[in-house]
Amino acid sequence: MASRPTIVTTVPALRRAVEPFWHAGERLALVPTMGALHRGHLALVREAKRRAKRVVVSIFVNPTQFAPNEDFSSYPRPIKNDIATLTDAKVDLVWAPSPEVMYPDSFATKIEPAGAAKAGLEDKFRPHFFGGVATVVAKLFTQTAPDFALFGQKDYQQLRVVTQMAKDLDLPLKVIGIPTVREKDGLALSSRNVYLSAAERNVAPLLYRVLKAAATRIKKGDAIGPVLDVARIEIDLAGFSLDYLEARHALTLAPIASRKDGPIRLLVAAKMGKTRLIDNIGV
Ligand code: PAF
Repeated sequence: MASRPTIVTTVPALRRAVEPFWHAGERLALVPTMGALHRGHLALVREAKRRAKRVVVSIFVNPTQFAPNEDFSSYPRPIKNDIATLTDAKVDLVWAPSPEVMYPDSFATKIEPAGAAKAGLEDKFRPHFFGGVATVVAKLFTQTAPDFALFGQKDYQQLRVVTQMAKDLDLPLKVIGIPTVREKDGLALSSRNVYLSAAERNVAPLLYRVLKAAATRIKKGDAIGPVLDVARIEIDLAGFSLDYLEARHALTLAPIASRKDGPIRLLVAAKMGKTRLIDNIGV
């Protein structure tokens, strides 16, 4: 039976746990998560283990990236299952601070990312989100001092924001994006998929089918505008409430009008009932 990873909940305990890795010159990879782990997170852990001898997984449901009307209090927190999953995955360390440890009363510093964080995608609908993500991820990076940090491409704008933040702050680590893991029917894995009713779950994979079809048409040379117009109608007719479907430059997330200005990433966010789903695809 695999032995349970060391679980640390304070910064001094985290330091004591990672210092031997640093001193032994062992590479360390960080997988930041909010728990409710699924196969998507395990793909990050697998890649982390491929790149580094030591792997730390952080589990922290970060209050500052949720707006007051969002699901912070109901966000799933199956900590026992998560620890069992990480035991099976043979990770070395779990960093699970409380909100008070992460944000003590005296806490007063916030990172306010621009660039990709102001692309008019997630930021338009969740204006608080990237400030909260950038601040907590910067803290996770400095707390653990990893050589690598792994993020899923499903949260594509987040991946671009965090990559830029690490570069701008000269943080000595490599941010690595890992392809989205999907259900057999194409639905991107997400801890929030548990919110979908059975009927909504049946319809949800349409989002990826529409993205794939649009990407194929753009690759074949169809004009981006009309392709996206049709895709938006299809998403609407399926019963989603669409927040956005956009073609953007894959690195800067700037709007893009023609294939020659690529590489292109198609990004979508839509609500199915009360559940907000996001997805994206490269063209
Ligand atoms: O993608 C997530 O799970 C979170 O946004 C992250 C990166 C762990 C920061 O809280």
